[in-house]
Parts: sequence; C-alpha cells; structure tokens
Amino acid sequence: DEIVAGGNSLVLRCFGLVLASLAAWYMGYLLAVHVPQNTVSLAALQDIGKKPVLRAPAPKRHKCDHWSPCSPGNFAYRILSGGAKQRSAKICFEDELLISEENGNTGSGINIAVVDCKNVLCVPGITRRVIDSTDHSGEMMDFIKSAPEGTLLLMATYDDGSTKLKNDVKKLVEELGSKEIKNIKFRSSWVFIGAKGFKLPDNIQKEKINHSDNKKNRYNGWPAEIQIEGCIPRNLI
Ligand SMILES: *[C@@H]1O[C@H](CO)[C@@H](O)[C@H](O)[C@H]1NC(C)=O
Repeated sequence: DEIVAGGNSLVLRCFGLVLASLAAWYMGYLLAVHVPQNTVSLAALQDIGKKPVLRAPAPKRHKCDHWSPCSPGNFAYRILSGGAKQRSAKICFEDELLISEENGNTGSGINIAVVDCKNVLCVPGITRRVIDSTDHSGEMMDFIKSAPEGTLLLMATYDDGSTKLKNDVKKLVEELGSKEIKNIKFRSSWVFIGAKGFKLPDNIQKEKINHSDNKKNRYNGWPAEIQIEGCIPRNLI
C-alpha cells in the first residue's frame, strides 16, 4: 500500500512540475509578445547610454560633392551626364546646382550652363539651354556665340544630343577646346567644360565621352552616365 501510494504521489508531483513549467513558459511567452516594444528598446537604449560611444566624425561635405575640397582661390565644378530615363544631367558650379532635375531645367539633348565670372561673384549670368534633337542646332550656335568673353561653358548630354547637331556647332565647340564633339553619336554620354576668351589649365578634367554600345550598355539602350569634376583657379577668369 505504502509503496503504491508513494509511487502515486511521485507521479502526481512530476505531473505538477510539468504543469508548472508549462505555465511559466506560457506566461513568459505572453509577456514577450505583449510587452510594448518601446519598453524593451528604452531599456536597451539606457544600457547603451552607459557605455562610452566612440563615433567617427561625420564626413564633411564639400562643394559640388567633391571628395576633397578645392583649395582656396578655386571654383569647384562637377558635370554629370544623364544616364537612363530617370537620371537626367546635373551641372554644379561653386556648389550651385545650375542644371538638375530638381530645378526642372534639364532636358533631352545638350544641356549648357554659362557662368560669367567677370563680376567677381561668378554667379549672375548663369544661363541654361537645352539643345534637343529637333533641330535647335542653330539656336545652340547663337547661344555659344553670344556668351561673352571670360565665361565658362559647362555642357552635358541627356538622352541624345547628336542626331541633329550640325558641323558648324561642332566646330564652335571644338574651338572651345573639345576633342570629342566630332565623335559624338546617338545617345553618347558626353560632358565638357570649355572657356571663352581664356585657357583652362591642362591638368584639369575637361571632357569625357562614353558611347552607346548594345553589348556594354549599363541601361537598356543607354550607356552609363559619365562625369568630370575639378577646381578652376579664380585668377584665370
Ligand atoms: C561606359 O559605359 C559602360 C556601360 O554602359 C561602362 O561599363 C563603362 O565603364 C563606361 N565607361 C566609362 C569610361 O565610364
């Protein structure tokens, strides 16, 4: 009898233990599910707050998003051609975005910004023209011709800038220092900075081109965008 009763109570106790641990597990589970998230994260945050945190200084932003700043006495520029449909041309000068999608002043063709630096500030006189493929070649000719001496002309293609570009304009751009304008083809990505009435330093990026090539194109039917950037000594202008 005794033995049987003892055995029974052992079974009962074991059963009770299992029930209790099941209940404990279930309550823990309920707590974990229902405790509001921010209570947990607040505790975690307080914990982090106690430890000394080493943080690298945020990288300093430079004019026109250059990696390193131009030295004093220089103007910063960056010219980016368009890429695919959603990537239109960007022209930046001294941290001013002269041509961009955000400005709403970019379009298919050759985008041109003119910077007239005669008046020290170098900001007024900025103009922008988009020469598209529907025969504005003559307009581009007039535009370049009417830019005064002592100006910079910054150019970038978006989509196609070549189809209706006539030889007389190409000559004019060549006179500004371009070596690639005569090679421009359908949807070539092309960027260029030229000067009127003075010479740009030899050691700065002035021009780049990338042709459309169906085997290599980054985007469907479009070559990768291309860019140049650099610093122009103010005393040149
Ligand atoms: C030209 O574009 C292709 C893709 O379209 C790309 O792979 C290549 O790197 C680009 N070349 C330059 C010089 O950016």
